[in-house]
Amino acid sequence: MLRSLSLLLLSSALAATCMAEISNTIVASGLLDPMEITIAPDGDLFVIEREGRVLRVHPATGAMFVIGQLPVTALNEKNRSSKWAREDGMLGITVDPQFAKNQRLYIYYSAADIMANRLSRFTLKDGMLDMASEKKMLEVPTDRRDRVCHHGGSLSFGTDGLLYMSCGDNTNPFESGGVAPIDDRDGHDHANAMRSAGNTNDLRGKILRIKPTEDGYTIPAGNLFPPGTAKTRPEIFAMGCRNPFRMSLDPKTHTVYWGEVGPDAGKPSEKGPAGHDEVNQAKSAGNYGWPFVIANNKGYPIIDFNTGKSTSVTDPAAPKNPSKMNTGLTDLPPARSALIWYPYDNSQEYPLMGSGSRNAMAGPVFYYDAKRKYNILAQEDDHSLITYDWMRNKAWKVKLNDKEEFVKMEVFMEGFQHPMDMEMAADGSIYLLEYGSDWYFNKNGRIRHLRPGNGNAAPTIAIKETAAGQYEAAASDPESDALTIQWYLTANQKDVSLGEGKTIDLKGKTGEEIRAVATDAKGNRCIERISFQTQVVAPLTMVLEGKPQQAGFGEKINFAITGADDPKSIVVRARYIPPTGHDAGGASFNEDITKLVTARQCLACHQVDASSVGPRYLDVAMRYRDDTSAAEKLRAKLKAGGSGNWGAIPMPAQVAVSDEESAKIVSAILGLAEGMAEARGTDKGTLTLPPAPAKSESGGAWEIIAEAPLRTSAKTRIGAK
Ligand code: HEC
Repeated sequence: MLRSLSLLLLSSALAATCMAEISNTIVASGLLDPMEITIAPDGDLFVIEREGRVLRVHPATGAMFVIGQLPVTALNEKNRSSKWAREDGMLGITVDPQFAKNQRLYIYYSAADIMANRLSRFTLKDGMLDMASEKKMLEVPTDRRDRVCHHGGSLSFGTDGLLYMSCGDNTNPFESGGVAPIDDRDGHDHANAMRSAGNTNDLRGKILRIKPTEDGYTIPAGNLFPPGTAKTRPEIFAMGCRNPFRMSLDPKTHTVYWGEVGPDAGKPSEKGPAGHDEVNQAKSAGNYGWPFVIANNKGYPIIDFNTGKSTSVTDPAAPKNPSKMNTGLTDLPPARSALIWYPYDNSQEYPLMGSGSRNAMAGPVFYYDAKRKYNILAQEDDHSLITYDWMRNKAWKVKLNDKEEFVKMEVFMEGFQHPMDMEMAADGSIYLLEYGSDWYFNKNGRIRHLRPGNGNAAPTIAIKETAAGQYEAAASDPESDALTIQWYLTANQKDVSLGEGKTIDLKGKTGEEIRAVATDAKGNRCIERISFQTQVVAPLTMVLEGKPQQAGFGEKINFAITGADDPKSIVVRARYIPPTGHDAGGASFNEDITKLVTARQCLACHQVDASSVGPRYLDVAMRYRDDTSAAEKLRAKLKAGGSGNWGAIPMPAQVAVSDEESAKIVSAILGLAEGMAEARGTDKGTLTLPPAPAKSESGGAWEIIAEAPLRTSAKTRIGAK
């Protein structure tokens, strides 16, 4: 039996902080880029993962079942930096309001057979997603080239039985320098949101609202354009959206809330206002302005990208779409202000939003209900919107008045791991979906169950295999309550109870995962799991010429690598490990720097030793190793942000980082190159070991690692002379 220990380590290392008055159980972990969550009437959860899996989760025991896999177009590990289909994949999921009777799910996904995002209805059969049951309902034609992104994709039913779906502007945001992507030149339509979000005749950059029927859907009354209006689509409820990512509906009024991820401009300029994220509210159909207006109705100048000059500034009361790519109306409905808007800098209007990177999302609307099992907020918070931010890892509660206007906001919780979706269950508790630590390819996504605290802290538990098939739990409780430990095995789509006790013997039973659930006297729980499934990845092999036992500073080592798909993708590195130095196995930061880059959100886009949205820090260090002005350049880059050195994606200005912190981090990044040699792009090459460091001691070792995408690295260690 194979076990994934690294997942286990990750899940406990990430145990999140949580305000004391909220009690918090991690009911599922080890998810792969989970995107959206929905709750069935029986309390089970359905979750989609970016690359196509559909999961069912039973929160009481933490059981997770893969009930289906849709063929989707999605970025994958074979080609991590592809310019194609950057944010495509599984986009949204919701259960039918009659799910208990009809077992129907709606899923919005990037089709693999056509260039469109598709909304389909599926029916479960024996608990599994029945692929033959797919009823294709709506297709949104989409571009996938040239780093276009933004699909939105949130699905939600109102208590009015109408289905709401958010669609992004499907536009490359990088080529317009963080202001409005309104590039009307030939061949630049991928960077022109006037063709999508600003176009009344296109479904992208919109919130759609439809009434599903047996055979498809009908158009409810009250959408933005009455059916039959020339040059418009009747499905549109809200237009002028950039990336309306997570959406929620007020359970009483059906008012729609969504977080709108905004553009990157750090400061206002003659090209337009600073970028802002928005939390939007639609009590009725309307235009939310993008790409002509942002925040509290700040108009963008209409720029001619041939000359860089602006012709006019958009009047929010009478916006126009002048694009030759526009197939809809020229005169657009008046633009509406966001409910809450905030830039990278400290917000003047909403200081509690803080500063730094941003990704606004909208969570549930809370109403106090004394008859319900749980009230996650207090009685005085009755009628509050919960909003959160994927980058800032925080949630806020926003008190609204009888007219649904903003009264005040407070921080509700913090310390999340990229909160991706938040749904309130019928009992008033909240399920929080966390995406994982990185931008893509996470294996540590998870689901947390949030309930009001009962003054009693949850127990903790760890499990380990003591002998083949035998497991032991070490559980403890902060209040020293008596604990019960219940064991479960996931096998063949079933959650098998194995009984109670500190230890368990599988006695020849096999399955996909074993779990232990510790419950204290007050009913607080903690779940731990060991997965028996690991991905099988083919290894690289590395042969060093002459099979050296030792190598000295400045010497050359010839290598031959086999097993990679493409020799050009191979990177070989040698790293000097001094005899007294600590060796964490691979280049790493010290504890202080790790804390700092974690606190400043750098790790959302960067890793020390793997590429992500941003370059791996080790690559940065190697590129600038001989550049004496590098530290200064990188500090300036952190301050101003920018793109082009590693690709088209810009780094936003890191305004939350002080000059002193920036100096510390940059010097730690550059320090990663110390004692390193590198050879790239060949399966037969030479490593030239670095010269001896100033304070060299004798002894130590060289760690030599060969890497290629989707292959297990080859590693060896030889002595240093
Ligand atoms: C939203 C994603 C994101 C965040 C957050 C982020 N970066 Fe970056 N970073 C990038 C991208 C993308 C690039 C590549 C830019 C380019 O091609 O010039 C980059 C580049 C860099 C570089 C190399 C710059 C160069 O010109 O070669 C350094 C150093 C760096 N980032 C450090 C940091 C630090 C430190 C933090 C946290 C304070 C941070 N980054 C936060 C996305 C990000």
